[in-house]
Amino acid sequence: MKVTVFGSGYVGLVTGACFAEAGNNVLCVDIDAGKVARLQQGEIPIHEPGLDDIVRRNFEKDRLRFTTSAEEGIAHGLFQFIAVGTPPEEDGSADLSHVLAVAETIGRHMTDYRIVVDKSTVPVGTADKVRERIEQTLGERGVKVEFDVVSNPEFLKEGAAVADFMKPDRVIVGTDNPRTAELLKTLYDPFTRNRERMIVMDVRSAELTKYAANAMLATKISFMNEIANLAERMGADIEKVRIGIGSDPRIGYSFIYPGAGYGGSCFPKDVKALVHSASEHRFDAELLRSVESVNKRQKELLFHKIKAFFEGNLAGKTIAVWGLAFKPNTDDMREAPSRDLMEAVWAAGGKVRAYDPVAMGEAKRNYGDRPDLELVAKAGDALDGADALAIVTEWQEFRSPDFDDIRDRLRHPVIFDGRNIYEPSLVRSFGLKYYGIGRGERLVV
Ligand SMILES: NC(=O)c1ccc[n+]([C@@H]2O[C@H](COP(=O)([O-])OP(=O)(O)OC[C@H]3O[C@@H](n4cnc5c(N)ncnc54)[C@H](O)[C@@H]3O)[C@@H](O)[C@H]2O)c1
Repeated sequence: MKVTVFGSGYVGLVTGACFAEAGNNVLCVDIDAGKVARLQQGEIPIHEPGLDDIVRRNFEKDRLRFTTSAEEGIAHGLFQFIAVGTPPEEDGSADLSHVLAVAETIGRHMTDYRIVVDKSTVPVGTADKVRERIEQTLGERGVKVEFDVVSNPEFLKEGAAVADFMKPDRVIVGTDNPRTAELLKTLYDPFTRNRERMIVMDVRSAELTKYAANAMLATKISFMNEIANLAERMGADIEKVRIGIGSDPRIGYSFIYPGAGYGGSCFPKDVKALVHSASEHRFDAELLRSVESVNKRQKELLFHKIKAFFEGNLAGKTIAVWGLAFKPNTDDMREAPSRDLMEAVWAAGGKVRAYDPVAMGEAKRNYGDRPDLELVAKAGDALDGADALAIVTEWQEFRSPDFDDIRDRLRHPVIFDGRNIYEPSLVRSFGLKYYGIGRGERLVV
């Protein structure tokens, strides 16, 4: 089948590459000429395990192409996927300008029937706006062309995006047109072979499903962080509590890890957007507002612990930071807790020496050259002469370090573990001080 994908970011590029891998003929359109040029050279602009191979293979077989020409894209695919960004506005609402710009372009160039598929995360009612924008543009051209607008929110996880797309838990399709649902079913069939995974529903329910899923996951994280903060004050160990509650199948073990707060390009903005949408419907989404404020507080916690350890004075101190990406296996630093920590350390007059296995380029792009940030090539290099070590991302390579080496290289032998990847008693047996999240010891003044 012929597929066009607007937006070659984390979602668009994975979507395009995986559809091509299944044998479809895919054209990816992006307005970022630099990105398109890199993709045409076989250079993958993001870190996503397994993506390089798929992109290269399908590019070589001519099943996956990249262009900046929207016109070419609209002429190409029966399916016109919209996978552009929907960043938050100042008031927390989702910025739909990119989505609607694509809709307008489709209306401007469409000559035959097209299925416009919203894959971007968009508020309930956006498919109606996309439809109106296309109709309006067609009207301005004085032409009549049939089209459908479908909601098909994406649930892939950065860091496991290819695997998630290839073997989705579910494919949500929002449409009231059975024929369109059938066509999408054919497109998705190769990814849902062992059992039916497509769930067809009305458009609005599909749009809300995506927000509800992310809001639920963010709620689990904030809930666990809330209990961790209690554990810290009550002398309990949240890791024991986690195992204790996770064993209840109604609760389960996934997504109940306490830590330095959730970040990334999705949870923060999607929770905010849902709170904002609720207010537009004159409803106070009280629970979700709390999820957000608990998370904001949690992202500040590591800094407060470090500051308390140094008795309120971080001026001239250097903090070694392990992990910059918002989670392992990605280079994405959007709303990453590492940023809150580093920015707070800088504001307090301290310096940061940081290492991340793949996000160093992103760190440089975000912060450029500044005297209070040193990016180093190896985890160990961050330690020399640093006053403390903070673990912010739970990369596998940080899990079994040489604790003797850490102790010897740090000026103050202390680890602030924002992801609870170490066993406190083990770390302490090496003569290091250890502060995790919710592990029964309170260090905030
Ligand atoms: N990143 C994730 O893990 C994830 C998961 C599920 C859903 N989503 C949702 O998917 C959407 C895209 O997210 P992302 O992380 O891939 O974003 P991204 O910022 O990585 O990529 C967006 C791309 O769209 C391009 N673009 C913007 N306007 C365009 C236009 N008019 N025509 C063509 N291209 C255009 C940009 O240049 C950019 O390359 C968002 O709504 C996001 O909430 C993201």
